[in-house]
Amino acid sequence: MPKIGIIGGSGLYEIPGFTRLAEESVKTPYGEPSGRYLIARAGGVEVAFLPRHGARHGARHDIAPHKVNYRANIWGMKALGVERIVGINAVGGIDVKLPPGSIVIADQVIDFTFGARPSTFYEGRDVIHIDFTEPYCPELRGALIAAAQKEDIAVTPAGTYVCTNGPRLETAAEIGFFGRAGGHIVGMTGMPEAALAREIELCYAAVAVVTNPAAGISAAHRLTTTEVVEMMASRMESIKKILKAVLPMIPAERRCPCRDALKESRL
Ligand code: HPA
Repeated sequence: MPKIGIIGGSGLYEIPGFTRLAEESVKTPYGEPSGRYLIARAGGVEVAFLPRHGARHGARHDIAPHKVNYRANIWGMKALGVERIVGINAVGGIDVKLPPGSIVIADQVIDFTFGARPSTFYEGRDVIHIDFTEPYCPELRGALIAAAQKEDIAVTPAGTYVCTNGPRLETAAEIGFFGRAGGHIVGMTGMPEAALAREIELCYAAVAVVTNPAAGISAAHRLTTTEVVEMMASRMESIKKILKAVLPMIPAERRCPCRDALKESRL
């Protein structure tokens, strides 16, 4: 059973270098996940891989960020036995110290998708308030930072991820506001993914690749999806190295608070 899940973002639709073992379709109470889960192995560790934007119809990218069924994707991971998820995200850089090509292991999140996407598993009689003070698993973040160090890949070990609903990009004023609010990077897929994982006691960490300066950060710069895709592609080798290196570094037993996130959270 795979205990580690990887959710690929733009540019990461498969994981070459991993041995393919199986493909699993998972039925969930929330509808269909973005596609079939690829079960693969690297260095003796099994993982479940899912491209967030789908890899269906022969097309490589056909589910927009605001249309992703985040609940089904996360639920499906749990159903497969996954305990920890690493999400890969393309982001814009708000902080000028994070130029395109930077890799950030985010440690905080500001969610502007709230109310626009189904964002909880608990819509029935259960009243659950999970603690989200620290939105990303500290143990998993630590392992990712250590894996990058081992591979000699520079990563920024912390940063606040601002999640917008999209699909449009932001205005310069919005980015200015996010920066003043403490945001370092901006993307459209980090939430509610992280919160949903916590709601069912899965660990979650985000590896964000800065693909472009966010709107208005670089003067007279028009943002294009071409630059996002190209920058993501150019960092893919590093991302794959980090993913391969991190697998054996993740402790078998979880000691983080995520594993019992539901304790004392029920009203
Ligand atoms: N804004 C939002 N999402 C993104 C960006 C951006 O500038 N770049 C890549 N994903």
